[in-house]
Amino acid sequence: MLELKKVGLSLEEKPILKNLNIKFDDGKRYVVLGNNGTGKSTIANLIMGVEKYKPQVGGVYLDGKDITSLGVYERANLGITIAFQESVRFEGITTFDYLTLGGKIKASYEDAKWALKSAGLNAEYLKRRIDDSLSGGERKRIELASMLMLKMRYVILDEPDSGIDMMSLDTISRIINILNSSGTTVITITHREEIAKNSDYAYLICSGTVLKEGAPADIASYYKRTCDNCGHPNEIIESVERL
Ligand SMILES: Nc1ncnc2c1ncn2[C@@H]1O[C@H](COP(=O)(O)OP(=O)(O)O)[C@@H](O)[C@H]1O
Ligand SMILES: [Mg+2]
Repeated sequence: MLELKKVGLSLEEKPILKNLNIKFDDGKRYVVLGNNGTGKSTIANLIMGVEKYKPQVGGVYLDGKDITSLGVYERANLGITIAFQESVRFEGITTFDYLTLGGKIKASYEDAKWALKSAGLNAEYLKRRIDDSLSGGERKRIELASMLMLKMRYVILDEPDSGIDMMSLDTISRIINILNSSGTTVITITHREEIAKNSDYAYLICSGTVLKEGAPADIASYYKRTCDNCGHPNEIIESVERL
């Protein structure tokens, strides 16, 4: 189980997260839903252990053990990985090398082909180099395919549909479900309530803390009714204190 306990985090002296409590049980599909600017990517970076996003208050716990001080590499070794909102650039290497971590993952051409296909790309991409000739959407799909290859315990997908064409909802759901069926706990971060529906449990984030949590259908409909019309998603903390 992965837990964020009473997390408080400021960036450049601005409070971004406050009294954030989130639990991820093993083997489930979670969604972290919220408007833009409410702190979702900050939560993703914090779970992954990105240096700038270490909490000043509270901590991150894996199976009850405090892992707050661990960095990205150490957390990856514990089975946590992320597809960042902005696709990471691996200039020049082939898609096949990227998907197999340059041979570190023992996987066949067929495995890589299957992962790409699941992300909506054909086998021709395996030989393509990851460079500016690929569109943002193609890069994103390759990155999502790599999530299928890694076989990690926890996968965080931060706005997995960002940069991909509108037809992508099915692809995103397929990837989440394949990961989940192989035992991975999937944490999908999104501002789209349609994506929230394809999960087992949802957290609604407002102003850097959990506003509501529970059944995805309930959270999604509350979000649609309430948060769609919220004109001040960036008023971090103050607005939550008034709730
Ligand atoms: N590295 C940073 N330095 C300063 N402020 C940041 C940084 N990263 C994010 N923020 C601020 O934190 C708030 C939440 O951002 P973010 O977590 O990206 O929201 P979301 O992913 O929900 O859109 C925003 O006000 C943003 O400007
Ligand atoms: Mg974000």
